[in-house]
Amino acid sequence: MAIVQLKDICKQFDGGEANAVDHFDLTTRDGEFVVLVGPSGCGKTTTMRMIAGLEEISKGELWIGDRNVDGIPAKDRDIAMVFQSYALYPHMSVRENMAFSLKLKKRPKAEITKAVNDAAEILGIQNLLDRKPKALSGGQRQRVALGRAIVRQPQVFLMDEPLSNLDAKMRVEMRAEIVKLHRKLGVTTFYVTHDQVEAMTMGQRIVVMRDGYIQQIDAPNALYERPVNMFVAGFIGTPSMNFLKARVDDASQRLIGEGFSIAMEKAHETALANHLGREVWAGVRPEHLDLVTDANAGTTDNQLTGTVEVIEPLGAVTIVQVRVGEHIVTAELDSHTSLAMGDPAALTCDSHKLHLFDAASEKTLLETSDSGKRTTGDAKTTTA
Ligand SMILES: Nc1ncnc2c1ncn2[C@@H]1O[C@H](COP(=O)(O)OP(=O)(O)OP(=O)(O)O)[C@@H](O)[C@H]1O
Ligand SMILES: [Mg+2]
Repeated sequence: MAIVQLKDICKQFDGGEANAVDHFDLTTRDGEFVVLVGPSGCGKTTTMRMIAGLEEISKGELWIGDRNVDGIPAKDRDIAMVFQSYALYPHMSVRENMAFSLKLKKRPKAEITKAVNDAAEILGIQNLLDRKPKALSGGQRQRVALGRAIVRQPQVFLMDEPLSNLDAKMRVEMRAEIVKLHRKLGVTTFYVTHDQVEAMTMGQRIVVMRDGYIQQIDAPNALYERPVNMFVAGFIGTPSMNFLKARVDDASQRLIGEGFSIAMEKAHETALANHLGREVWAGVRPEHLDLVTDANAGTTDNQLTGTVEVIEPLGAVTIVQVRVGEHIVTAELDSHTSLAMGDPAALTCDSHKLHLFDAASEKTLLETSDSGKRTTGDAKTTTA
């Protein structure tokens, strides 16, 4: 176990124009599970490879525990990696695969046997130890790959999209197992995914990245409730947050746009004080929209009215897309909704849950958490 410190790390590849990783700054807690998430090419793997020692750092410092590891080769960093292509040695049994790294280190036989057996027990693969990889299912192979990492009892685990070869159901199972494993072993872990659900369910803290920059580092709920900008707001949560261009109407104290009118809450007044008469982005999550029906019509405010364009029944809920003026608004509704395509529909939103963003910078106008504040300064905005 160890605290890992990435101090203002940059990575520029030879010939690369922009930095692949730009001023990455993060100190983990001891034993923390940190998830790196972001779209393809945002620098997740590069960051992991720098921690691992497989890629040189162009600028900054990297500390693992009380060691500055600049110049220390990968094999001496006391790190174990599980990557997407976790090639197991096909000619070796599971046992041999798991024992391999310890054998290389010339550990005593008894110690290797114990380490392999312990790891196999933790992962529930004792009965597979004599099989060859080809006789295993994808999930079982994944467990063996984890087993290979566990036997080394590293100070840090690095896992880069380790589940992406698995089918959806197996991914859900394995991600729960990795979380349990982390709880049991308490090893500081960096986990990469581009799946925001995986990030939310696994991470103690999540680092949202874009174009090499950290956008926000926060606990899952803080990311969801207090995203620092529209990129994070749109990236975290599914279906994605709706963004509506709205005019801040001073006289009526409302946010107004074609097809909608939403009352400003007390909490919004300070946020919008400098935006009176101007346009802002209003962000509404699909799950915070409700259908206006005959029964609640008299008691609802904050309506968005338009025409139903898409209906997706998912069983537990129904996702509808409603054209409201120039916007397509996605709403997550009760599964019993009787709407049909082409129907006029009125939605009502919970204005306490409304997000507000500056029209130009796309940064939030609302309060953020301390960690959000720290990172928002140099965050890139979604406008390229
Ligand atoms: N060896 C390399 N030489 C030059 N550029 C590289 C190299 N490796 C990565 N890059 C570039 O650095 C950027 C970040 O790549 P990286 O692999 O870290 O992204 P990622 O977030 O892991 O993406 P993905 O989700 O697709 O795995 C990309 O623009 C990529 O093209
Ligand atoms: Mg990658």
